[in-house]
Amino acid sequence: MNITEIKEGIHYVGVNDRTKHRFEGLWSLPYGVSYNSYLVVDEKVALIDTVDAAFAGEFLANIDRILHGRTIDYLVVNHMEPDHSAAMSTLRLRYPQMQIVGNAKTLQMIEGFYGITDNTLCIKEGETLGLGSRSLQFFMAPMVHWPEVMVSYCPEQKVLFSADAFGTFGTLDGGILDTQLSTDHYWDEMTRYYACIVGKYGKPVQAALKKLGGLQIDMICSTHGPVWTEQIGRVIGIYDRLSRYEAEAGVVIAYGSMYGNTERMAECIARSLAECGVKRIVMHNLSSADMSVVLRDIFKYDTLIVGSPTYNGELFPEVQSLLDKIAARSIPHRRFAHFGSFCWAGAAVRQISEFAQKIGWEPLCQPVEMKQGYKTSCEEMCRTLARSVAEQM
Ligand code: FEO
Repeated sequence: MNITEIKEGIHYVGVNDRTKHRFEGLWSLPYGVSYNSYLVVDEKVALIDTVDAAFAGEFLANIDRILHGRTIDYLVVNHMEPDHSAAMSTLRLRYPQMQIVGNAKTLQMIEGFYGITDNTLCIKEGETLGLGSRSLQFFMAPMVHWPEVMVSYCPEQKVLFSADAFGTFGTLDGGILDTQLSTDHYWDEMTRYYACIVGKYGKPVQAALKKLGGLQIDMICSTHGPVWTEQIGRVIGIYDRLSRYEAEAGVVIAYGSMYGNTERMAECIARSLAECGVKRIVMHNLSSADMSVVLRDIFKYDTLIVGSPTYNGELFPEVQSLLDKIAARSIPHRRFAHFGSFCWAGAAVRQISEFAQKIGWEPLCQPVEMKQGYKTSCEEMCRTLARSVAEQM
């Protein structure tokens, strides 16, 4: 059996992207990303999702290699974000009789993005599409991570085609199934993917997990990353924990610094935490940090300490950017502390306090505010802040 036949009659026809710098124009891709698509070959042939437009040629070749001139009867569109739908127009040209299957929201988006209105099939929650010896049953999973998202389940083979759910950054280098790859680097990439892409939608992810909880699943075919078989329990556990915004014990110190004074406060806090026995401390200077990694760590660890100089009477811009991203993800709780500095008129500490109040985070202790340069009196206050955080861990 060819390695691309992931289960009898189900073929992987996706592609790897190792050239894009930023996913969605925002998030770095140190290990690349895969756009997964699956071909179910039975009396009827169904293709599940497509790939990024840049890979349409390779995608069509992958399909040709399986079908040898046979046609595609259905294109099932689980998710409309263009990393999965953009090859649809090209596919339609090659297979004009192919029926495009989606729910009402999907079909509206297909018209809006690609101007396609004909030869479509509108399906609803729980409906089934027969393919011969197999079938596909559809379950809506709105806001995981767009409103039209649905998943397709093949009960005869216990395969779930899950759209973005259970996806991760990282290309498929050789193997496709989790049993054919070294999966070590995918776990942090999965958290980073979740934090950046799906992080806002914890409640919808919880709703989807509940809805799918009764299905017998031997294989999860996501749109990004490995096909999960042996690691299904671990993958569902990660998505469950992240969508509850639960985190492991550890401290993220994220700060901005113009001339190193605020950074010295961060260093002092980190050292003092370590002296108190805290081992898991991650520091991010936001001028150079990869924002997607910072967000990953904020989803991963339960304590966040934010520091900022006052810049033009506001927060340091990169700190403001981070706080905006945290607020956008509606993270309901983190153990939180903050510090900052100013030269002639303080604003940073006050604005971080206002941020915490707005999103409902209760600071663990009083913030530390430093005027101008780093000095002994400030060091003592940073130590006190760190001790207070450590004592409450
Ligand atoms: Fe991979 Fe929401 O698209």
